[in-house]
Amino acid sequence: MPQLIAPDVRLHASFLEAMTEFAAEEFLGRTLARELVEHAPTWHDPAGFARYVGTVLADDSADTYWYVDGATFLGRILIRHGRLLPPDDLAGHIGCGVRPSARRRGHATGMLRAALPHAFDLGIDPVFVTCDTANTGSRKVIEAAGGVLEGERGGKLRFWVGGGGSESGGGASSMAWKNRRSAP
Ligand SMILES: CC(C)(COP(=O)(O)OP(=O)(O)OC[C@H]1O[C@@H](n2cnc3c(N)ncnc32)[C@H](O)[C@@H]1OP(=O)(O)O)[C@@H](O)C(=O)NCCC(=O)NCCS
Repeated sequence: MPQLIAPDVRLHASFLEAMTEFAAEEFLGRTLARELVEHAPTWHDPAGFARYVGTVLADDSADTYWYVDGATFLGRILIRHGRLLPPDDLAGHIGCGVRPSARRRGHATGMLRAALPHAFDLGIDPVFVTCDTANTGSRKVIEAAGGVLEGERGGKLRFWVGGGGSESGGGASSMAWKNRRSAP
């Protein structure tokens, strides 16, 4: 059954396969675009991959989780720590992607649902999530996780997801390895 894990060097082969799939897409997200420049030249090598994973784990601006099924990397989701985002912020607290070969199987929905308690544990409540107006898949994922549409700005739909104080909040993070350290 798919689950969120902290980035882990043991996923090396599957991570690289997934990144090859992402990199072949027309639109590269900000994170991948940066990683392709900074890390892709060396992440095929085990030592380079270990450096990359260490960099992700040490990033104080966001917590990154990988969504995996056994040894298969399915996708990733990151929670940006800024709690008070400027009104014109377009990215929101959450960024996520499911590898192209694993899409339309409910993984993004499962991944966002699983990640929200971690955001609540960080004190982010409600969580601000955006998607491109034309991104039907992303919109459905956010709505399935309880996202309430605020409106549209700058070509993005803006949603808020609350509930950290209720059933899903507090204690949900068995992997509070990082959240506790970096809570704002
Ligand atoms: C958007 C994205 C995360 C969806 O991932 P996914 O694992 O395919 O999503 P799910 O399988 O959980 O699908 C959720 C719903 O959206 C629908 N959906 C998914 N992709 C869709 C698409 N391209 N067009 C229309 N509907 C789509 C699914 O059919 C499902 O609908 P349902 O609830 O009515 O059954 C994935 O396509 C992706 O990584 N895209 C590139 C990066 C991106 O856009 N990230 C989101 C920005 S934060």
